[in-house]
Formats: sequence, C-alpha cells, structure tokens
Amino acid sequence: MKPINVGLLGIGTVGSGTFRVLQRNSEEISRRAGRAIRISVVADKDTARAQAIVGDAARVTADALEVVNDPQIDIVVELIGGYTVSKELVLKAIANGKHVVTANKALLALHGNEIFAAALKNGVTVAFEAAVGGGIPIIKSLREGLTANRIEWIAGIVNGTSNFILSEMRAKGAAFDDVLQEAQRLGFAEADPTFDIEGVDAAHKITIMAAICFGIPMQFSKAHVEGITKLTQDDIRYAEELGYRIKLLGIAKRKSAGFELRVHPTLIPTRQLIANVEGVMNAVLVKGDAVGQTMYYGAGAGAEPTASAVVADLVDVARMLTADPEHRVPHLAFQADQLSNAPILPMGEVETSYYLRLRVADKAGVLADITRILADQGISIEALVQKEPHAGEEQVDIIMLTHLTREKKIDAAIRRIEGLPVISGKITRIRMEALQ
Ligand code: HSE
Repeated sequence: MKPINVGLLGIGTVGSGTFRVLQRNSEEISRRAGRAIRISVVADKDTARAQAIVGDAARVTADALEVVNDPQIDIVVELIGGYTVSKELVLKAIANGKHVVTANKALLALHGNEIFAAALKNGVTVAFEAAVGGGIPIIKSLREGLTANRIEWIAGIVNGTSNFILSEMRAKGAAFDDVLQEAQRLGFAEADPTFDIEGVDAAHKITIMAAICFGIPMQFSKAHVEGITKLTQDDIRYAEELGYRIKLLGIAKRKSAGFELRVHPTLIPTRQLIANVEGVMNAVLVKGDAVGQTMYYGAGAGAEPTASAVVADLVDVARMLTADPEHRVPHLAFQADQLSNAPILPMGEVETSYYLRLRVADKAGVLADITRILADQGISIEALVQKEPHAGEEQVDIIMLTHLTREKKIDAAIRRIEGLPVISGKITRIRMEALQ
C-alpha cells in the first residue's frame, strides 16, 4: 500500500525525537499501521539544522504554509507550539482536508472547540495524545479504555518541571530559584517557565482531560490556576511531619451542580502512590464508577517519550483513514452533538479540606478565638499542631488541617482570623485531597 506522507512542522526536541523513532522503528510501525509512515517534508525556520537532522530522508523548507498546502501530504504534525501561527496552520491544514497530529496543549485548551468543529466539518481527525502527559497514553486510556465508565474525578501530576522543583525542595531542602534553574538547564521547562511554575501548563492539560472525561467543551478560561511559587520550605516540612506531601495537582471532579476544574498545590497523604511520584515524572489518577481507581505513570516530557505519543497518533490516523468520519473515535470521547453544558463551578463552591498555617502570638485565648471563627463557619478541625517558639521569639506557627468544607467558608474564616490582632502576616492556605 502507498506510504503515508507526513509533513512535520517544527523539528525541535520533540520533532527530532519523532523523526528518529519513526526511522528506527519503521519496520515495526509499518507492520502495525498496515503501511509505511514517512516524514517526507519538514518545515523549520532553521533549515540548516533541520537538514542536518533529516539528511536526505526528507525535504526541508522554511515555509510551513507550503507544507499544509502540499497535496502530497496526508498528515500534518504540528510541533511549533504557541497559539497564533500554529492555530492558522492547523486550521489551514484542516481546510485542505489533512489530518493533524499535535502536541500543542495550549492551542487545544484555548482553541480546541473551534479546531474540532473545523475538523468535523472537513471530515478529518485532530489527534493529540502528546499534548498531555508526554509519553503516557492517557488520552487513549480516557477516551477508549475507560469508555464504559462514568468518570467521577481525575487528578494528575502533569507538569514535570514543577514536580521536579517540589521533589528537590523536599529532598534536598533546596531553594525554589536554584531548582528552577536546574530544571531549565536539564531542558524540560517550557520556553517561558512561568507556564510551568504558575500552573498554566498543568491547567491546559487538565482542561483537555476534563473535556474527555466528562464530555464537556474545552473551558480553560474557567479553570482555577495557582502555581507553586509561594510554597515555602516550612510548608513542605510541616506537611511531611503530618504525613502529607505537596504536589501541584490538576483536578477535575463531577459534582451535582457542575464540574470542578482547578490546578493548585495540594497536600496528598504520603501513603498514596501518586504522592510518591517524584522528579520530572507525571502520573494521572482516574476514578471511574465501574473500574474504580486506575493510575497512569511515565515520562511527561522529553524527546522520545513525547515522540512515542506522536507516532502512536500517526499510526491511529493511518489505521482509520478508510473509516467514515462518523465511525471514528470522537475527539472528546463523546459524540460532538452530545457534549454537556453543565457549568464549571466557581471556586467558592469547590469542596475540599485545607492545611492552614498561621503565625500567632503565644498567649492565652488565641487558639480559642481562632477555633471560634472556624466553628462559626461550620468548619471542623481534623488536626492541630502548635510548634515550639524559636529561642527569643514570642510568635509561634500553628498548623491546622480541616475536614471537608467549601472554599467560600474557608475564605470567610481566613478573612476574619487575619483581622485578629494576635495574628501576624497572612495565613497560608493549601488545599488537601485524600484521593479516595
Ligand atoms: N514543560 C512541560 C513539563 C513538558 O514540565 O511537564 C511538556 O508538556
């Protein structure tokens, strides 16, 4: 059978990994796909570098538009990133009747609804396994493997950079800035590391996974996004003493009134498997009503792990080329006309438990005042620790863990407690999830 011709847009880390894996495993891949899959043209601004990578195996051009307009190309692989040029190119490829494979989580989280609608109209597929969790086949698992289930919640460590930073801060007592520099040196941080450390990259990924889990449109703008930049060594240590580890989690939950969609640092019991996912690794925990909990673990970034997902998409597209568009696996797991319009809940309605750290004067009645305010809001305390004052200091740290409550109640309690004259500074509040 005629080989599938692929046009590759961008041959950076993931692009060169994809080229290498396709060449190295070409025989196995053809046996699986039923025909050869070959990258025949590569578009990259740095044509000399691109040519050095591909040798004479593919044509190189600086003009990505030429590739998406090339009638010989069956599938366009978009590995440029960002959401301006890449959006135009993806939409143009779709309009030209080409299938698209992309690793671009930002593009899909922000413009996925428009892109999938265009793909549906033109009878083509947009595949995006590499957009979430690098080499972990999480999209396929959610969309196909768990298709029998009503998914109740999903929680994932989906940003390797921030997980690496938290792991190093905990294990070595290292400072945030030093570990961030190390992550950048190792090459897994995004070009703009604020997307990693401020939770934006994780929010792109949980937005995509939530859409597939629940059959809802992409709603990145409604996600609550909080990163790891405000975490201190004290909180990491106190959490550890109480039997918890702090992870940056992307969380999406089904509730009766709608869906929770949030990214924030989270205390997780250390005995949970996912709490022990360290370094640059990713893991996603999913709760389905039939299967119970399943967890998916692996490299969330890197040239060949991400290429593994890109090539899997290429094989998938190659296999379904002969299927009618209406008989293909839908982009978001649910049929496009069956998406739910149940809302994403505002953060005030989110239900979780909390770790609170307060710096207080070590005097009679202080604790009584604080617990009274919590009781007024109906917030029950699960654990409470008062640390010894440091020599010569009159202030002490109090750490409290609460039972489940609503975010708006804890917000109100924090406002009132911060108003007490015996409290110094702001209260640190970190959400907790038992993940049971
Ligand atoms: N910058 C991302 C991370 C990798 O640190 O996980 C690609 O999604």
